[in-house]
Amino acid sequence: MPAITATACGKLILFGEHAVVYDSPAIAIPLTGLKVRTTIEPAIGQPQGKIHIKAAALGVDHDLVELQEDHILVHTLNLLFSFLGLHQTPTCRIILTSDLPIAAGLGSSAAIAISLLRAMSAFLGHPLKPQELNTLAFHSEQGVHVRPSGIDNTVITYEKPIYYQRGEVIEFIQPIREFTFVVADSGVRKSTRESTGRLAQDLDADPGMVQPHLDAIAELVEQSKRSFQIGDIEALGKAIDANQEHLSALRLSCPELDVLILAARQAGALGAKLTGGGMGGHMLALVTSETEAAVTQALSAAGSLNVFTTRLYPVE
Ligand code: MEV
Repeated sequence: MPAITATACGKLILFGEHAVVYDSPAIAIPLTGLKVRTTIEPAIGQPQGKIHIKAAALGVDHDLVELQEDHILVHTLNLLFSFLGLHQTPTCRIILTSDLPIAAGLGSSAAIAISLLRAMSAFLGHPLKPQELNTLAFHSEQGVHVRPSGIDNTVITYEKPIYYQRGEVIEFIQPIREFTFVVADSGVRKSTRESTGRLAQDLDADPGMVQPHLDAIAELVEQSKRSFQIGDIEALGKAIDANQEHLSALRLSCPELDVLILAARQAGALGAKLTGGGMGGHMLALVTSETEAAVTQALSAAGSLNVFTTRLYPVE
């Protein structure tokens, strides 16, 4: 068996995070500049069935059997082995590296699962079809988050902008113009499990406060799908700001994110909001070619240690 390397990208949720967990739609785009890479090489001379994994991002340099059953790497590999009906694990070394920070809103857990599933299935000579990959990655996400919506694994599997609603056919959406987003790290780490858990408690305790915000977010997603497709950048910017106000009212922002969002708006961004689980992680700002440099500079000046740009291009 030759060595195999596979990758998976990150993701950005433009609209509808959290509400999507409660079956509302959301819009997400792939973050193709940041990758998780998994290399699998045969380990000749090692005991039969021994798998050694090196994944610095997860603090792992262990034999598979030393990790807990519910560890994302073990859980994901077991899902694949059982899907393929494999009785004997392969003898190999797995090296996983990631550009994506963990618990930062960029889809690291789904990207880890997808790059691992792609690499191992190819190594075993049974590369997965996209739909199989997406389903297995969703099951992997179920081991990591309490009730994942499935948006992260879907946008990362297909690497295309999507309008996503749990249980509905996935809609790929394309802008007719280029969009540029400046993305910045708040430096705060918060697991999605924690932010979704907190919102679930709030919804339970005070549905009259929480539900109207979730409904308003769903409405914004509908409007924004159209703005995205026709390239109405001004309307999208306003909807991004409005989405942030609802997330903030739901206590899903944090002071570090608020500082960055304000800085981006003051530097001329059309709209700025947190992206992903929130309560930390990353924010995004929609910019034009005239405002990109000023927004980038303002975000660094406001204290973000990692500011980068991602672009979406229309399909020819
Ligand atoms: C995940 O990136 C964002 C959330 O909407 C959770 C989910 O969709 O499963 C908060």
